[in-house]
Amino acid sequence: MTVKQLQEEILTLKKQKNVIILAHYYQPIEIQEIADYLGDSLGLSRTTKEKANTDYIIFAGVDFMCETASILNQDKHIMIPNYESCCPMAAFLTPEMVREYKEKHPGLPVIVYVNSTAAVKAESDICCTSSNAVEIVKRISKEFSTKEVLFGPDANLADYAEQESGIKCWQMPSHGHCYVHSQITVDDIVEIKKKYPNAKLLVHPECIRGVRELADIVGSTARMYNYVKENSSKVIEFIIGTEVGLLERMAQDFPTNKFYLAKEKLVCHNMKKHNLELIKYILENLDDEAFEVKVPPNVAKRAKKPIEKMLEYS
Ligand code: 13P
Ligand code: SF4
Repeated sequence: MTVKQLQEEILTLKKQKNVIILAHYYQPIEIQEIADYLGDSLGLSRTTKEKANTDYIIFAGVDFMCETASILNQDKHIMIPNYESCCPMAAFLTPEMVREYKEKHPGLPVIVYVNSTAAVKAESDICCTSSNAVEIVKRISKEFSTKEVLFGPDANLADYAEQESGIKCWQMPSHGHCYVHSQITVDDIVEIKKKYPNAKLLVHPECIRGVRELADIVGSTARMYNYVKENSSKVIEFIIGTEVGLLERMAQDFPTNKFYLAKEKLVCHNMKKHNLELIKYILENLDDEAFEVKVPPNVAKRAKKPIEKMLEYS
């Protein structure tokens, strides 16, 4: 069966069964093409809370995204096409570690990046994504009348939020990182900028400080997409410092522009574990609980507060 045929079958099945499909920008392009909603982690969280009006949601993203959808929609079935699709960054921070940091820094607000487990979110005061981290740090520090916050698990995002907000962000832990973004080096950027001197450089805040400081724009996947959309008639070339899926989306949507990956092989293998065959299987077997992501109600109840607070503040 061709990709096109498989996509058509999926579109028919999802209509018949009244299912919606959400996909992150890092998904394989053939999955992005059949999604009802495509977005960054903040946009997809909002969508599951505000627009997802079907009993079943197929979520083509990594585990923490599906868990967030489950926390916000305990009455719905959140289906993940491949249950091995996880974000390794989440493993850098456990609930026990958060409790230890809280004991060491009593009274400081705890901000947890959504790229974390539900149990870690349950220990936090508020969550954030890459698109609202700076704003959340400013708001919560004001609310707690403090100039310091605890922030984890991504040390690079914590560093970025600290630089932009002027608020001390204690990293939980100092080595938490994303293996995709942290592999981009300053030398990579210097080299690619030499090759394409007229290109604008867009990078994700999960990149290291030296890389971020060379960028024209630092932002979430949706922020980068919107920047290209707004500037595609004025700027021809863009260097993209994030996962290749976003570049593929941009290349399809803006065919007259040129896009270069900041470094070869910027692939999140965890995001790429989903495929069209798995999505079709789920549509045909919606009662297969192996593919359902369900956060236990006691954890979901505690984790819901910091997520909802984030949505309210951004
Ligand atoms: P966004 O919030 O930009 O979607 O990023 C999520 C992510 O996992 C980045 O690696
Ligand atoms: Fe996690 Fe990095 Fe993949 Fe994003 S790109 S899902 S942070 S491993």
